[in-house]
Amino acid sequence: MPTAAALAPLPAPARDHLAQVFAQYPIEVVDGRDVWLHTPDGRSILDLYGGHAVAALGYGHPRWLAALERQAREVAFQSNAVPMEVRRRAARKLVEFSALPLDTVFFVNSGAEANENALRTACRITGRGHVVAVEGAFHGRTAAAAAVTHGSAAWYGYPRTPFDVTFVPRRDAAALAGAITTDTAAVIVEPVQGVGGAFDMGAEYLSAIRRRCDETCALLIFDEVQCGVGRTGHPFAANLYGVVPDMLTTAKALGAGFPVGALLMAPHVAAHLRMNDLGTTFGGGPLACAVVEAVIDAIRQDGLLENVRRVSERVRERCIVGPVTGIQGEGFLLGLRTRVPAKQVQAALLERDILTGTSGDPSILRLLPPFTLREEHVDLLAAALAELPA
Ligand SMILES: Cc1ncc(COP(=O)(O)O)c(C=O)c1O
Repeated sequence: MPTAAALAPLPAPARDHLAQVFAQYPIEVVDGRDVWLHTPDGRSILDLYGGHAVAALGYGHPRWLAALERQAREVAFQSNAVPMEVRRRAARKLVEFSALPLDTVFFVNSGAEANENALRTACRITGRGHVVAVEGAFHGRTAAAAAVTHGSAAWYGYPRTPFDVTFVPRRDAAALAGAITTDTAAVIVEPVQGVGGAFDMGAEYLSAIRRRCDETCALLIFDEVQCGVGRTGHPFAANLYGVVPDMLTTAKALGAGFPVGALLMAPHVAAHLRMNDLGTTFGGGPLACAVVEAVIDAIRQDGLLENVRRVSERVRERCIVGPVTGIQGEGFLLGLRTRVPAKQVQAALLERDILTGTSGDPSILRLLPPFTLREEHVDLLAAALAELPA
């Protein structure tokens, strides 16, 4: 046990009292409208990053605002112990939207929490203590989610992981047989890796994982926290690739700015749930549920899946220009491969009032724009890239 003295000395306290753990963009934001962010000094910045893939409807979407306001006036909070129609409606809507045979929903507050519950459920149901994850994966920063996050040893912090973990190379079907065994509780995979650089796993590899899970009775978890809820131009990447997991986790775009996550389970998983297996105070709160409904309604009624597919095509057609040599990913989870470090391109674009993201791959610039982005915005990006040295 370290003494108090060993824990000191602390660095000088942060001036704004916030933990100094995030690299900061050199801009401040005061408001947002649709795909535009505004700074205190009057700049309008095109947001192609969406706050880490969250702002699916852009900013100030009328349906999102109205749902939040209406629900706040009706009743802002009651826990899962109190049945509420808005919670049942949100679960039904999410299941219908997914068009997948995953018919049971557990609402939580974040992506990591959804993964934590999926992994725990897999270990409990199978009675096994081994999990397989994929190199480059990011699944969150809680104990189990971080254990399956590739490279987390640098910041993990816990004395041990809750289960044994094997990482397999991306898209290497031959490596699956040795890694996924009858000791394996679950395989967790992002069908399109986000932090890993908008790297799509492809239908063939995901089908090979599905087959090996079936052979070994391991459960397959799709982490669609970043790539789900329409971001690929399909409800979920599972729909796009035609591979059905046993559990699917999602968050980010699901609330489009309001914190909410969900774990979707197949009937053969849900059948094992007992009273008190899962729990949360805030998860499934009425504000979150009202927003989930509004987000799904907006995606459907505004034709946003079609928009994502069409405008994504425009990025592929117009944006291999200047320092960009290729484009990977799906829909609005795109990785622009850059000849120079992506960080440099990101900084140059921000000087031209375009906000983008980087990734775990230093030569991939990541785009995670709102689903409301239009062709004219892509043309602004293409023009800005064309000004940069090739
Ligand atoms: C694929 C994926 N899973 C899980 C998480 C963790 O989500 P949260 O930050 O909401 O806990 C993230 C966050 O970036 C993610 O991209």
